[in-house]
Amino acid sequence: MAKLLQLLCIITLSTYSKLAFSLATPPPLPILPLPSYAQLKWQQRELIMFLHFGVNTFTDSEWGTGNESPAIFNPTGLDANQWVDTATKGGISLMILTAKHHDGFCLWPSKYTDHSVVGSPWKNGHGDVVQELVNAAKARGVDVGLYLSPWDRHDRRYGNTKAYNEYYLAQLQELLNNYGNVREIWFDGAKGSNAPNMSYDFNDWFAMVKELQSTINIFSDAGPGVRWVGNENGYLNTGDPKGTDWLPAECDVSIRTGWFWHKSQSPKGVNELLEIYYNSVGRNCLLLLNVPPNTTGLISKSDVQRLTEFKNAIDTIFSTNLAEKCSIKATSQRGGRNGGLDPKMC
Ligand SMILES: *[C@@H]1O[C@H](CO)[C@@H](O)[C@H](O)[C@H]1NC(C)=O
Ligand SMILES: *[C@@H]1O[C@H](CO)[C@@H](O)[C@H](O)[C@H]1NC(C)=O
Repeated sequence: MAKLLQLLCIITLSTYSKLAFSLATPPPLPILPLPSYAQLKWQQRELIMFLHFGVNTFTDSEWGTGNESPAIFNPTGLDANQWVDTATKGGISLMILTAKHHDGFCLWPSKYTDHSVVGSPWKNGHGDVVQELVNAAKARGVDVGLYLSPWDRHDRRYGNTKAYNEYYLAQLQELLNNYGNVREIWFDGAKGSNAPNMSYDFNDWFAMVKELQSTINIFSDAGPGVRWVGNENGYLNTGDPKGTDWLPAECDVSIRTGWFWHKSQSPKGVNELLEIYYNSVGRNCLLLLNVPPNTTGLISKSDVQRLTEFKNAIDTIFSTNLAEKCSIKATSQRGGRNGGLDPKMC
C-alpha cells in the first residue's frame, strides 16, 4: 500500500510539474530579423580574402577596356597553393576570386566565349585558374567564393539585354556546377556608360544561384545574403536600426592602393590595417581584404609578410582579456533590455 501511494505521488508530482512547465511564461520572442544559417557561418569568419587577378595584372591597370589580348595573360609561376597558404597564415577561411572582371576575360575555360585562359600561352591554353584555386583551397580546408562581373566591356552581347543575360546565366551555371561548393557569389554593382539601357535580370540570376548552391551567400549592393558597405575603404559608417531584413555588410578594401597588382605599389602598414579592422570587424561587419597575385602568379613577399604581421597584431591585442575590469549584472526579471542585462562600462 505504501508503495502504491508512493507511485501515485510520483505520478501526480510529475503530472503537476509538467503542467507547471506548460503554464510557465514562454521564453521571450526573438527580436527580428534573424540571420540565416549561411549568414551566421559567414559572420564568424571576420576576415576573408579577395583576389583580383586577370589581364589588368599584366597591363598595370584597374579597369581593362575589354580589348586586351588573352595572349598577355601568362603567370608562368602561378601557384594557388601559395595563395591559400598565405590566406591561412592570416587566419582566413574564405577566398573570393575574380573569375571575370569588367574586361570580360575569363580565368576559366568558359564554353560560351573564347576570351579566356584558352587563348593564353599559360599552360598552352589548358590552364584553369578557378580550378587551381578550388583544388588548393580544398586540400587546406579553405572555402572558395567567386566574383563574376555583370559589367562586361568585351562581350558583344553586352547591351542586348536578352542575349547578355542568357550569356551571364550560362556562365553562372558553369561556375556553380563545375567547381564544387561555392560559399559566396559576388555581384559587383559597377556598370559602364557604354550600354546605358542594359538591364540585369537579378531575380533570375539569384534564383539560379540558390537552385545550384543552396547554402551560398549572395553578395550584391543590396543582398539578399550580404550587402556592400557602400565604400571601398573597409569602414562601416552607418547601419539601419529599423531594418526588416538581416543583411550584414561586407567591407571590401585592398591591402594595396589598387585592386590589381601594380609594381609601383606596396601594402598598407599594420596600423592602417588595424584601423580598418576596428572599423569593420569591430562594427560587426566582415572585412574582405584584397591581396592581389602578381604577374608571376604569386602573392608578393611583402604582402605575405604584411598579412602575417597584421594577424599577429590582432592575436596579440586580443590575447589579453579586454573586459577584465568590467562587470555585468544580470537579473531574471523581464522588461527593459531583454534578460535584464546591466553591463557596467569599464
Ligand atoms: C536607351 O533608351 C532610351 C529610352 O528608352 C532611348 O531614348 C535611348 O536611345 C536608348 N539608348 C541606347 C544606347 O540604346
Ligand atoms: C611575385 O611574388 C613572388 C613571391 O614573392 C616573387 O618571387 C616574384 O618575383 C614576384 N613577381 C614580380 C613580378 O614581382
